[in-house]
Amino acid sequence: MNDANSTGMHGTHRDHEPAGAGTFAMAELLDLDAEVLHAHLDELTGWLAELATPAPSRILDLGSGTGTGTLALLKRFPQAGASALDVSPQMLHHLSKKAHALGLADRLDTVRADLDADWPGLGPADLVWAASSLHHLADPDRALARAFDALRPDGLLAVTEMDFFPRFLPDDTVQGAVEARLHAALNDRPAVDWTDHLTRAGFHLEERRPFAIDLRAPLPAAAGRYAQASLRILRSHADGRLSETDLVALDTLLDGDGRHSILRRQDLTVRSARTTWAARRP
Ligand SMILES: C[S@@+](CC[C@H](N)C(=O)[O-])C[C@H]1O[C@@H](n2cnc3c(N)ncnc32)[C@H](O)[C@@H]1O
Repeated sequence: MNDANSTGMHGTHRDHEPAGAGTFAMAELLDLDAEVLHAHLDELTGWLAELATPAPSRILDLGSGTGTGTLALLKRFPQAGASALDVSPQMLHHLSKKAHALGLADRLDTVRADLDADWPGLGPADLVWAASSLHHLADPDRALARAFDALRPDGLLAVTEMDFFPRFLPDDTVQGAVEARLHAALNDRPAVDWTDHLTRAGFHLEERRPFAIDLRAPLPAAAGRYAQASLRILRSHADGRLSETDLVALDTLLDGDGRHSILRRQDLTVRSARTTWAARRP
């Protein structure tokens, strides 16, 4: 299953329309994702710290969104500065506010850039990070070639993508079956294996590393809001693709005030899978 690449957190292909409710919903979802899956993000940046020697001093985050990766990397590498690139000024504004609140603003540049157009001059980077962003681009191979040029020799690129969008409801429940049908209905694109793309761009693949995510109760308080935010985004694509009965069941779950709201459930899980490719510029 790979509805992550057709909709939801990954958004539709090239969906950088002007800010609207969708942008704010996505920003909320990205922040909740980082909060609930902080252990995964820690593991990921810890692994990159082993690969990126000496420790990077200049980091680029391609398609930074609200900066979940940028901020995690600035914390992981306290000597580093980062440039966060995104086509959405709203995402970058949100990131700036968070960086100020965390005392990290003096180590961060936010750069509005369409990664499918000409890139701004960014200077040589030691580490380039692209999380859930490459598949948005019209020409990801061109962006990978640019990332190659932006890295110093021996610099590291980390590409991370979801294999499938998170599942929150147990399979053996009525709502879990609705969620499964929702994923199946929105799953219209296979997951991309970026290995060949990286090789073609001139990178040497260090490792392609799958991560299985399987969080069970007790979950952090944000998990219910995370489930609600992500299912709401999927729900916004579901009209005409699910039965009326399933749509009503979803709406009942997503009604925050209702007795059957997903926010009240004690049986939520977070099951997902992500893959990270770590590749080096020779
Ligand atoms: C799913 S979000 C991922 C955000 C962040 N990397 C994370 O993992 O939390 C994808 C981001 O890519 C950005 N994006 C999409 N197309 C882009 C483009 N052509 N140029 C720059 N950014 C783009 C979107 O605005 C969005 O912030």
